[in-house]
Amino acid sequence: QELASILRRMPKAELHIHIEGSLEPELIFRLAQKNGIELPYPSVEALRAAYAFTDLQNFLDIYYAGAGVLQTEEDFFDMAWNYLARAKADNVVHTEIFFDPQTHTARGVPMATVVNGLYRAVQRGREELGLSASLILCFLRHLSEEDALATLEQALPFRDKFIGVGLDSGERGNPPEKFAAVFGRCRELGLRLVAHAGEEGPAQYIRDALDLLHAERIDHGVRCLEDPELVARLAAERVALTVCPLSNVKLAVFPELGLHNLGRLLAEGIVATINSDDPAYFGGYLNDNFTATFAALPELGAREAYLLARNSFEASFVADETREGWI
Ligand code: HPA
Ligand code: ZN
Repeated sequence: QELASILRRMPKAELHIHIEGSLEPELIFRLAQKNGIELPYPSVEALRAAYAFTDLQNFLDIYYAGAGVLQTEEDFFDMAWNYLARAKADNVVHTEIFFDPQTHTARGVPMATVVNGLYRAVQRGREELGLSASLILCFLRHLSEEDALATLEQALPFRDKFIGVGLDSGERGNPPEKFAAVFGRCRELGLRLVAHAGEEGPAQYIRDALDLLHAERIDHGVRCLEDPELVARLAAERVALTVCPLSNVKLAVFPELGLHNLGRLLAEGIVATINSDDPAYFGGYLNDNFTATFAALPELGAREAYLLARNSFEASFVADETREGWI
């Protein structure tokens, strides 16, 4: 089909991908074996069969368990390298990659191991794949703000290896205001700021991510449609939303892809983008997200395909000259 072919071939940026969410079951098993870690699943198939999620928390429990097999700098490199090669195959020309250091430092893995392994893959991606990539450090919102502040301090020796910070993990009961101080500190440091908001949490969390955290981009943000004034503000201020359609269905944010609100977000003039979130867990990488969403939503056509690609570059944190070369 012609539209599907355009979607696959067009150059695009990915702005919402958790690198730990790109860990495929095969690599989880290989790393577990190499590192002498016992997995609670007898086989790759059994692990994959456990990927039947009911909500965000239920997914996160399995996702953090999977990330527990990562031990050495090489492990982090391998994970990121596999993702970058896969992104290249989807004609991704730029990607901004989230990583969750607290998942690893809490297990005794040094910050240096995490950042250096990921960054080496980013550099090699630039050199060998011609793929532009940056890292964004995410704070886990189910942990305390003190923990986030301590994590920031641990990461500062590697300040040149990541461009910004984000906020992820369980949203309900962990509002943006809980992290106002650490985001304030990051802002002083000149880091770019993003936050997950309005995935499971209410539209108010999107407002608070903007007003209290000064987030420049909202990850997910699909619940903004519950608040018409917020929708108008997002459109007027061109605040981008990094929408993840397959993730939203797997985590029951929408009952099925045909009921996703991406078409309405675009019609409202919001700078929405399509992203994969945790591709190894949610059934697809970036092009799978594009083709499945366009197949499910009749209001999306060639015009929206172009708009989504363009939005992904507009919303990215690259230098203006680089962006203009892509748009
Ligand atoms: N939401 C919150 N935290 C996450 C997600 C998500 O979709 N994926 C990985 N961590
Ligand atoms: Zn996410």
